Amino acid sequence: MGKEIAEQPDAVRSTLLDRRRRDGTIVFDELRISDQELREVKRVVLVACGTSHHAAQVAKYAIERWARLSVDVDIASEYRYRDPIVEIGTLVIGVSQSGETIDTIQATREAQRRGARVVAISNIVDSSLAREADAVLYTRAGLEVSVASTKAFVAQVAALELLALRLAQLRETLAPEEIDRLLEGLHGVSGHIATALERRADVDLVAGQLLEAHDYFFLGRHVGFPTALEGALKLKELTYLHAEGYAAGELKHGPLALIEPGVIVVAVTTDAHMHEKILSNVAEVKARGATVIAVATDEDDQIDAVADFVLRVPSTEPMFTPMIDIVPLQLLAYSLARGLGRNVDRPRNLAKTVTVE
Ligand code: G6P
Repeated sequence: MGKEIAEQPDAVRSTLLDRRRRDGTIVFDELRISDQELREVKRVVLVACGTSHHAAQVAKYAIERWARLSVDVDIASEYRYRDPIVEIGTLVIGVSQSGETIDTIQATREAQRRGARVVAISNIVDSSLAREADAVLYTRAGLEVSVASTKAFVAQVAALELLALRLAQLRETLAPEEIDRLLEGLHGVSGHIATALERRADVDLVAGQLLEAHDYFFLGRHVGFPTALEGALKLKELTYLHAEGYAAGELKHGPLALIEPGVIVVAVTTDAHMHEKILSNVAEVKARGATVIAVATDEDDQIDAVADFVLRVPSTEPMFTPMIDIVPLQLLAYSLARGLGRNVDRPRNLAKTVTVE
């Protein structure tokens, strides 16, 4: 797992490689769906499981914002049994590292049967999901062996954001110069991930002081919310400790009742637009005795006053932050798990690919 965490700059770089023609057009690996069909998309539904579902949740923010399309994200095992509505112009995106997760394959089959066009985001070339889809965008993260997914997640977010920009390009919802600017920013992400990885020692220091803790809440807003969900999932998978991810705005609607001394709150605070709101959420948990770990940008000069520990990351376009912010959270889960004597590569009860229901 340590090796796969370290490979994340390459996973993003490779996924973005040669995706842009000289005229600026973004290209897919295998396209059995025309530009015209993509232009006529009226609604997007993303289906996935586990970590891939969190990447899909990030994509919702990007597709809605950039391509101005309404997006639903569904857990594959819920979608397939829900008698879903597929209207003309529904595009279903199946997101799966392996391309073999049974629930995701069955969900996209169900969508196709009802007339949807399907795009696969897969890390394995020629996977079942990729073969059956109308278009494929491969994440080129390389083979991921460790059960807890890391490099596949950042590659999925990169691929999905590329797809969001392609939809924006076809629908002309963003100016070409804005698409160029965002593509440039996306290409800068792998360097920022590398910087976050260099700060591993800071994470180890924090983890070393938390070995007695049992309860974790991960909070975020906007794309920081799926990042929080993914951070909590890594901690659960690797340490077997109780960890929950929450949209910070939901804090007052329940979880605040559980905050007391001894509880650890991990707050993702990097989104400049939501900064003030998330800081006020941090103040709320701090006042109730929680120990706060903040993931904050290098520029943030307010965070030290409210957090017990600060894990710094380089700042970037808000939409790209999940790929960078997840790095300290992966390292935190990894470091805690090692400290607690867990086997990080083979967590108990879990499988890398779930091919049975
Ligand atoms: C399993 C793995 C997870 C993974 C999920 C979905 O639960 O342990 O790491 O996120 O399946 O897998 P997929 O291959 O469809 O992305």
